[in-house]
Amino acid sequence: MKPEPVIQIRGLTKSFGPIEVLKGIDLDVPPGKCAVVMGGSGSGKSVLIKTIVGLLKADKGTINVLGERVDLLAGDELDKLRLSMGFLFQSGALFDSMTVSENLMFFLERHLHLPPAEAADRILQTLEWVGLPEKLHDYPAALSGGQKKRIALARSIIMEPKILLYDEPTTGLDPVSVRMVAHLIVRLQAERGITSIAITHDLLCAEIIADEVHFLQDGRFIASGSLEDISRLDHPSIVTFFGNETIHPV
Ligand SMILES: Nc1ncnc2c1ncn2[C@@H]1O[C@H](COP(=O)(O)OP(=O)(O)OP(=O)(O)O)[C@@H](O)[C@H]1O
Ligand SMILES: [Mg+2]
Repeated sequence: MKPEPVIQIRGLTKSFGPIEVLKGIDLDVPPGKCAVVMGGSGSGKSVLIKTIVGLLKADKGTINVLGERVDLLAGDELDKLRLSMGFLFQSGALFDSMTVSENLMFFLERHLHLPPAEAADRILQTLEWVGLPEKLHDYPAALSGGQKKRIALARSIIMEPKILLYDEPTTGLDPVSVRMVAHLIVRLQAERGITSIAITHDLLCAEIIADEVHFLQDGRFIASGSLEDISRLDHPSIVTFFGNETIHPV
């Protein structure tokens, strides 16, 4: 028997004024799996995951996360569910005026009232987990692009979420850093059983993390399957998207 999906979306639509961005999205993500969403710029990928975490309100359709209806929740109930969902923003969104430690502490203090020693321990353990414990007292400006992404990842896992949503986790990184971040994402699945959705147009990253790929165009998923299968489809937008890249199954 198939396990119940941790994230289940049916008939999701979202417009901004006259612009229909999402026209009917269906998606199931089984426990511990990573669904990758691909598609052209402006196709609605970020809108989709912002709607899933409840940062944007769905117009129609249902969004089930961990057995709760995100589309029906508001206020404190939504805030509570959101604590089980980590979100890695497209921009990373670290506070520049705070050190790495203060950036991580900001979330812990707001949501968990841990004794200071326990909070400090959790911060250090999380930084060790992303391989950057020595950056504790650095400001974001002193970090490389890859390090910033890893600190942003540390911040999104510090609350120990069950679900992670990644918006372009590796954009702008060199291949070595891409591998490092992508392997951290895989370890989060393997070691913590995290279920995730990742938006990426980075094929190296997708090769490493994707269990299933969904290609978004004109407000709908026009293809779903393994990265290898999708990359071979003879659809003009998909051919343009993948260019001449060859997919190497991992
Ligand atoms: N808050 C908003 N208000 C109005 N329009 C919006 C808003 N957010 C997104 N849009 C519009 O929705 C469409 C999809 O945007 P979205 O950010 O989801 O694209 P994307 O697929 O993530 O693109 P990219 O790959 O460039 O990040 C765009 O036309 C954008 O202008
Ligand atoms: Mg986007």
